[in-house]
Amino acid sequence: MSLLEVKSLNSFYSDSHILFDVDLRVEPHEVVALLGRNGAGKSTTMKSLMGLVRPRSGSIRFNGEEVSGRPAHVIARAGMQLVPEERRIFGSLDVEENLKLARLTASHSAPMDSIFATFPRLGERRRSRGADLSGGEQQMLAIARAMVRKPKLLLLDEPFEGLAPVIVRDLMSVCRELARAGQTILLVEQNLAATLALADRAYIINNGHIVHEGPTAEMKAKPELLQRHLGL
Ligand SMILES: Nc1ncnc2c1ncn2[C@@H]1O[C@H](COP(=O)(O)OP(=O)(O)O)[C@@H](O)[C@H]1O
Ligand SMILES: [Mg+2]
Repeated sequence: MSLLEVKSLNSFYSDSHILFDVDLRVEPHEVVALLGRNGAGKSTTMKSLMGLVRPRSGSIRFNGEEVSGRPAHVIARAGMQLVPEERRIFGSLDVEENLKLARLTASHSAPMDSIFATFPRLGERRRSRGADLSGGEQQMLAIARAMVRKPKLLLLDEPFEGLAPVIVRDLMSVCRELARAGQTILLVEQNLAATLALADRAYIINNGHIVHEGPTAEMKAKPELLQRHLGL
C-alpha cells in the first residue's frame, strides 16, 4: 500500500483554479521530489496535502485513510509534517525550547538526544535563540522540529532556498541520513542538482498539471525533458 496516494486533486484560491487533477503517490521509505517553475503549484500541492488549503475535489489517501478536507491538525496527528518555505521558528526561544514546544502537542515524539544525534549542529547551539541562528541552522531547526513529531511523511518545501552552497551540502547530508534511516520524504525544490541527488523519483508540475513522472536516474539522462518543463 502506498503511504500517500493522491488522485485527481483540484485546488483553488477563491476563483483561481491552481491544481488540475493532480495524481501522485509516495511509497513508504521513498524520497520523491516535486519539481516545477516558480508559480507552478508546488507549494499549493504541499498545502493541499497538509490541509492548509482545502482541495475542491479529489482524493488524498494517507496511511490508508482519506484525509482530503480534514483540518491540518488532524492530518498532522495522522503522521504528516510540513516544513513550509517560510521557516517560522520562534526567534525569541532557544533551540531546545523550539523543539520542546513541538513535543507538547505531539502524540508521538522522538527523544531530544536522538534529534541532536541527527542534527549535531543544533546540539551545539541548543541554548542559542532562534533569531541568532544562521539561515542554514534555522532550516535545520525547522526540519528537526518536524522530526520531533516522528512523521510518517515529511514534506519539505524548498529547504535549500536562499542558503549558501556549503550550507546546502550540510543540509543535504542531513536529509540523506534521514532517508537512509527510512524516513519517507516529499521534497519540493528548485535546486535541481540537489533534488536529483536526493530523490528516487520525481514529478514535474507545470501550470498546476503533472506533466512528467519518473525515476530521477532517468531524468538525469534526459536533459531535454528538464529543459522543456523547467526551462533549464
Ligand atoms: N494565497 C494565494 N492566493 C491567491 N493565489 C495564490 C496564493 N498562493 C499562491 N497563489 C498562486 O497560485 C499559483 C501557484 O503558487 P504556488 O503553489 O505557491 O507555486 P510554487 O510553489 O510552485 O512556486 C501561483 O500562480 C500563485 O500566484
Ligand atoms: Mg513554492
